[in-house]
Amino acid sequence: MNRRRSAVSTESDTSKANTHFARALIEWHGRCGRHDLPWQRDRNCYRVWVSEIMLQQTQVSTVIAYYERFLQRFPDVQTLADAPLDAVLSLWAGLGYYARARNLHRAAIRIRDEHAGRFPREFAAVAALPGIGRSTAGAILALARGERWPILDGNVRRVLARHFGVEGDPGQRDTLARLWALSEACTPAQQTDVYTQAIMDLGATLCTRRNPACERCPLTLTCHARSTGRQHELPAPKRRPERPLRRVFMLAARRADGAVLLERRPERGIWGGLWCLPEFESAAGAQAYLGRVFGAAESAHPLEAIEHAFTHFDLVITPLLAHCSDYDGPPDPARLAWYPTGAPGALGLPAPIQRFLQRLASAPVQSQLFE
Ligand code: ADE
Repeated sequence: MNRRRSAVSTESDTSKANTHFARALIEWHGRCGRHDLPWQRDRNCYRVWVSEIMLQQTQVSTVIAYYERFLQRFPDVQTLADAPLDAVLSLWAGLGYYARARNLHRAAIRIRDEHAGRFPREFAAVAALPGIGRSTAGAILALARGERWPILDGNVRRVLARHFGVEGDPGQRDTLARLWALSEACTPAQQTDVYTQAIMDLGATLCTRRNPACERCPLTLTCHARSTGRQHELPAPKRRPERPLRRVFMLAARRADGAVLLERRPERGIWGGLWCLPEFESAAGAQAYLGRVFGAAESAHPLEAIEHAFTHFDLVITPLLAHCSDYDGPPDPARLAWYPTGAPGALGLPAPIQRFLQRLASAPVQSQLFE
């Protein structure tokens, strides 16, 4: 009997705590939240979906310009589905994590072909689209339609783990299950859209990983991490495997008019589907390619290395410059193209390669090194 009563009272305490949590966030968002972002205007699932995908790995301040350009060129799902992948990738160039753009395009084609061009109504159908998992599906339906779905992106995990004192690595299955249960319990039935935006904004602006601004946080009085001084211990850091280093060589075969030979990368793997300098494991491999494709080409000269950090490894590229002055047509036009570095076209290129080619464009064609 006693046990039952105490269980009931615990449940009601928990429910009160969760109500306080949601109310405090909604009230804070009314006072301090961001209300004028482009995806908050003319809200619909398509506009919110594109914004959520862009915001997955990129900050709001960077996303805004990309978002405006993207929506101008692809105002709806039909336009996006009908566009060539290259047009999508070229507007994505610089945002990184290109799988996001490829998945967005694939999902648009599915919506056009399998859902009569309308964004699906069912949660399960939304979550089954390429690039949309449980949390993103919840965010889209909550923000665009006000439906009650919990979300759990990185920022929300941090807010919940700190506030409710959830120990353990959020990458581990049982910790993750606890966090989902908390997210579910805290998501209110009313004003779900405001609450969802509020908890994401709190994680992005106040409850940040390194410097949480607890003195300005609307949850400061009930936060476990704050009251125990453990903001920097919660959530527990992910166990990270050592980051491997990969070294590759890339050939910058340049014609007399300055155009450089680019190759379309395979769909799978880094920078999938983007146009890039041909890649080799060794300088000898690049030299052999030059001989094969261009006959008696000059030997290639190494330039300053390009370093790029991916999520799971670091890449060091040694560019090899070679002059191929008399060569005209690309050997395989579906996969290779001459890229006019002085007047770049509409090809999607990885940002570090684009920067490299810009520098190369400003170097005289006959010089083998640039400063
Ligand atoms: N991160 C992911 N989605 C977001 C959103 N809608 N607002 C702010 N940050 C986000």
